[in-house]
Order: sequence, then structure tokens, then C-alpha cells
Amino acid sequence: METLKAEEFLNRLAECREAYWEKLNAERKSYGAEKPLSPAIVLRRLQFGVVMERKAAEVTARWVGQIPDLDLQQPMSEYVVNELKHTSILRQRIKELNGDPDALWNEPLPELKELWDFHASLTSLCELIASVQFGHEEFFPRTSKSFIERVASIDPKTASIYRDTLLADEAGHEWIAPEILSRYAQDGATQQKCLEALKRGCELFGRAIQSFNRSMPS
Ligand SMILES: [Fe+2]
Ligand SMILES: [Fe+2]
Repeated sequence: METLKAEEFLNRLAECREAYWEKLNAERKSYGAEKPLSPAIVLRRLQFGVVMERKAAEVTARWVGQIPDLDLQQPMSEYVVNELKHTSILRQRIKELNGDPDALWNEPLPELKELWDFHASLTSLCELIASVQFGHEEFFPRTSKSFIERVASIDPKTASIYRDTLLADEAGHEWIAPEILSRYAQDGATQQKCLEALKRGCELFGRAIQSFNRSMPS
């Protein structure tokens, strides 16, 4: 692929991601991702969150030591800390609700495992960032918004955790991924690999949340 200017490259990545979002959002509604919540569904959703937060930290941590510039290395290490902090907060909430915090962590759905195995297998920082932080992590505030609206009336504490901590921290680290990609994905071959990683990541994420929604207690 010919080398794109940073801005064009980010636009290309964003276009791909948004195309997946449209497809995924239509599908989520069709398989009942937005149906009314029961306490069992809330618990399951929190258990899913434990896997997503902890895995995001784990797959990213191994690359932090290889970020050349300190002004990106430091915020990326804080990102890892935040995701682990979110894991702890979610695990604590699950315990308060008398659930098993590691139910999905210990026995992940195959599609969820496939998603994170893919991220763990990526061979460069830029591909990882394109696929996780610039990719499906951008969907988190969108799916959380409807979850917060629906959970607020039955479990205000969980709604507050999502709104006041998880999403607030998310907003604080959204700038890092585009900055890393524009600074380090400087040649056509790397940019091409990033696009492929983002597409594959979105595809696997779509499958993982579909499998998750289908496995939901009724
Ligand atoms: Fe998080
Ligand atoms: Fe996050």
C-alpha cells in the first residue's frame, strides 16, 4: 500500500471501524442486546467487563516498554493501570452482588478467547493499538450509554461505576491511540498491517459480543 499522510491514514482506519460499528449495532439490536435488564443479566455484563478490562491491560502491557517517546510511554502505562483498576472495581461490584467475579475469566466463551488471543498474537505496537484502542474500544462508550440508561433504575450503583469511573477514564485516554498511530505508523506496509488488524479485531469483537448476548440468561 502507498504511504498515506497521518491524517488520511487515521481517516481510513476510522472509516473501517465505523462501517463495522454500523453492522454490529444493527446486529446487536436484532439479537436482543438492548432488551430490559434483570439482575442476572447485569451480573453477566459485569463479568464480561472483567475480561475486557483485564485483557486490554495484559495485551497492552507487553508493548509499553517499547514505546520510544516518554510523552506516550507514560500515558500508555497509566492506561494499563486504569484498565486493571477497572477490573478491580468490576470484580468488587460482582462480589457485592454475590456473583463469581471470574466466571467468564476462568471459562471464557470461545469467541471471546479468540478475540484476545488474536490481540496477543499481534507482532507490533501499532497493529495492537489499531486493533484494540483505536478499534473496538471506541465502541465501549457507545454500548455503555444504553447499558447505563437501562441499569440506572434497577442498580444505580452499577450505573454510577460505568458513568463516573469507567467512561470518565475512557474519555481521558482516547487521544493516545491516534497519536501513537500517526507518530509510529509511518510507512505503507505498517499502515496496511494496521488496517488489517483493525478489521480483524472488529470482526472478532462482533462475534464475541454476539456470542455473549446469545449466552445471556433469559
Ligand atoms: Fe476500562
Ligand atoms: Fe478502556
